[in-house]
Amino acid sequence: MNANQHFDTILQQRLDEKESEGLLRKLVDKTSYIDFCSNDYLGFSQKILHNTNPLPSGATGSRLVTGNSALAEATEKIIAHFHHAEAALVFNAGYMANVGLFSCIASKGDTIISDEYIHASIIDGIRLNYANRYKFKHNNLEDLEKKLQVATGQIFVAVESIYSMGGDEAPLEAIVELCKKHSALLIVDEAHAIGVFGNKGEGLVCKYNLQNYVYACIYTFGKALGLHGAVVTGSNTLRNYLINNARSFIYATALPPHTYLQIQEAYTLLPLADRNALYELISYFRDAVKSIKDVTFTDSHSPIQAAIIGDNFKAKALTEKLAAKNIYAKAILSPTVPVGTERLRICLHTFNTKEQIDALVNEIKKISA
Ligand SMILES: Cc1ncc(COP(=O)(O)O)c(C=O)c1O
Repeated sequence: MNANQHFDTILQQRLDEKESEGLLRKLVDKTSYIDFCSNDYLGFSQKILHNTNPLPSGATGSRLVTGNSALAEATEKIIAHFHHAEAALVFNAGYMANVGLFSCIASKGDTIISDEYIHASIIDGIRLNYANRYKFKHNNLEDLEKKLQVATGQIFVAVESIYSMGGDEAPLEAIVELCKKHSALLIVDEAHAIGVFGNKGEGLVCKYNLQNYVYACIYTFGKALGLHGAVVTGSNTLRNYLINNARSFIYATALPPHTYLQIQEAYTLLPLADRNALYELISYFRDAVKSIKDVTFTDSHSPIQAAIIGDNFKAKALTEKLAAKNIYAKAILSPTVPVGTERLRICLHTFNTKEQIDALVNEIKKISA
């Protein structure tokens, strides 16, 4: 056995351990299934025009080298205006936006306080700097205030407006008040709120008119916009700071030019999307699951719904049984979610039908009985 093969056996042992714990991740192709899983809440991934514009297919460099263009900058102006912000900076993905922002925004002696259920990309960003870090209990204002009281330096608070694994909403207005009281800067990840909430789909920060009290927002294009990429909105100064310090922005090839056109198109379509149809399906689903007595669902009025199963193997078995009926809803396992809250995550979309929801709910009912 050569050294390469030997190391593969070590990796294989680690994978086997994961498998024995029910935690092995596998790539699956479920494109032909009834979709209760993707983040394409408005069905935009099928709607955005396939660009026929003869633009180059690659950016040829990072934004600071050859990847910048009038098109990229115009797109950022459109986005900033849409979300009532002074400026915007596009990143290649939400993951890169969060890692870039959180890794450079705080310095030694500062403090970042984040909700315990914050997205992995924010956790990874926070880990890359020397600031103090605290977690507060999920959506718990009292615990947040306790952490604010002991925080030092410039304080940042990081939350998601809609939490990705449960679909529940952060109490943004109350969090803003606490941040004001403790002179903390609030950063809101709106990945799952853009397109879904607000009159034009601007997200919850704009819906509640909080944009002047939030230091920065992250909007991703891979969810309701059906595309790829993300943006950080905030002041012109923040934008310039990120251009100079966010390593995931500086050291990565920029998005291809045609993507900016698609992003612009998605932003044009957002105000026209039939959000009421989505809200109606969400209410329909919430009413339907009331008949399932033995399973608790998260308290969510967003397209993300979750049935708490409480066990990795059982949650995975549920996904497999649904797949046998051609329905795709994903099991979310611990440690991605806390032990005991392993769940079936169900995403609702404008293109789902009430009949599909009935079929899904019936299957969950049968399996849980
Ligand atoms: C809350 C949140 N932020 C950021 C991201 C990362 O976004 P992207 O998929 O564009 O990298 C996700 C995606 O899972 C998310 O749910």
